[in-house]
Amino acid sequence: MRILAIETSCDDTGIAILEADSSGSFKVLANVIASQIKVHQKYGGVYPAMAKREHQKNLTPVLIDALKQAKLLNQKLKIKSSKFKKIEKILEREPELFKKIIPFLKKYGKPDAAGPDGGGIDLIAITNGPGLEPCLWVGVNFAKAISYFWDIPIVAVNHIESHILVNYLNKKEIKLPAIALVVSGGHTQIILMSGTGKYTILGETRDDAAGECFDKAAKILGLGYPGGPIISKLAENIEPKGTLPRPMISTKDYDFSFSGLKTAVLYAWQKIKKENSEFFGSSQKTHQLQAEFSAEVQQAIIDVLLKKTIKAARDYKAKTIILGGGVSANHELKTQMLIKIKEEMPNTEFLFPEIDHSTDNGLMTAIAGYFHKTKKIVWQKLEAKSNLRIS
Ligand code: KG4
Ligand code: ZN
Repeated sequence: MRILAIETSCDDTGIAILEADSSGSFKVLANVIASQIKVHQKYGGVYPAMAKREHQKNLTPVLIDALKQAKLLNQKLKIKSSKFKKIEKILEREPELFKKIIPFLKKYGKPDAAGPDGGGIDLIAITNGPGLEPCLWVGVNFAKAISYFWDIPIVAVNHIESHILVNYLNKKEIKLPAIALVVSGGHTQIILMSGTGKYTILGETRDDAAGECFDKAAKILGLGYPGGPIISKLAENIEPKGTLPRPMISTKDYDFSFSGLKTAVLYAWQKIKKENSEFFGSSQKTHQLQAEFSAEVQQAIIDVLLKKTIKAARDYKAKTIILGGGVSANHELKTQMLIKIKEEMPNTEFLFPEIDHSTDNGLMTAIAGYFHKTKKIVWQKLEAKSNLRIS
């Protein structure tokens, strides 16, 4: 079967096309992402209204790219134009998207593979939550429009689950129970997975997410957006001294708190700036201070993530530890987790996504869609749910 997946929960517009055979082997036919980093960089964070507008602009060209890559762009038109009126109604809140999709639907037919196999798209997978509400709705309405127009069923997908299930890309089986640490810009959760679709949230952040903490720390340091990749790059080869607090590291639960760390970062950085005021500015020494402090921030975040994840894995006798979400792109986090798991739980397998599949993308949505392929819904029933929970 072929799944077309759409992901717009935050600031990346992602569309993927995945082919799955009956044994559960996947072949990625396309995985296209339009990043909005340049748009949000100026403001040091994601503005939902702006992100929504960008998704409206990006979705149709990203879909065309994905269909082209998958060799499914169909030049033969068979669909009656009477359907356009309804598309206008479905996209009444997305005028920019409507303007872009109509010429596309007029020019190309329902996706269809050339050659002897033929066939097209069997299922549309769409992230309907959690995420930024206006962004989710653009994707949801886009999915509704093409589902209606091409008469393809829809399956709604949870974004957090997608970050976990992307680890199935090159793996037929994951040994259960598993403990998943999902760390992104909006979430930090420790999840017990007892089956695909069977999850219990054991703990989560009580305030900021780990990725948000990276982003805010980078802003305080004047480093730009998104903070995670910048901080991790600067921190390379620097040994942290452990100067920052590790909030909630010793509590008996599996919860986190990063807002206190952010405040500590603010005060500590102000102090460093004051102490070095005679040369603070554009000098090489400032860069060195930023790099050293980045290593401190990164290690403080890693320490708490690691401690609580290992604790959960031990308590629940996990056979696998799964890492997912944008922060799983962090090289130091993966390295330290790998070492710790080898030392303390040598029989536990550690899974993490390839770097390109760590941050938001359509492929993770497609894989989650595959596992829920029997839960098809009609497009009229689809809704965005910004606070959707995995359990
Ligand atoms: O999963 P994601 O793409 O979007 C959400 O669902 O939120 O995660 C984005 C987050 C951002 O906060 C970003 O700073 C962080 O992932 N991130 C990283 C790295 N790359 C991205 N954090 C730490 N180290 C990285 N290398
Ligand atoms: Zn995400």
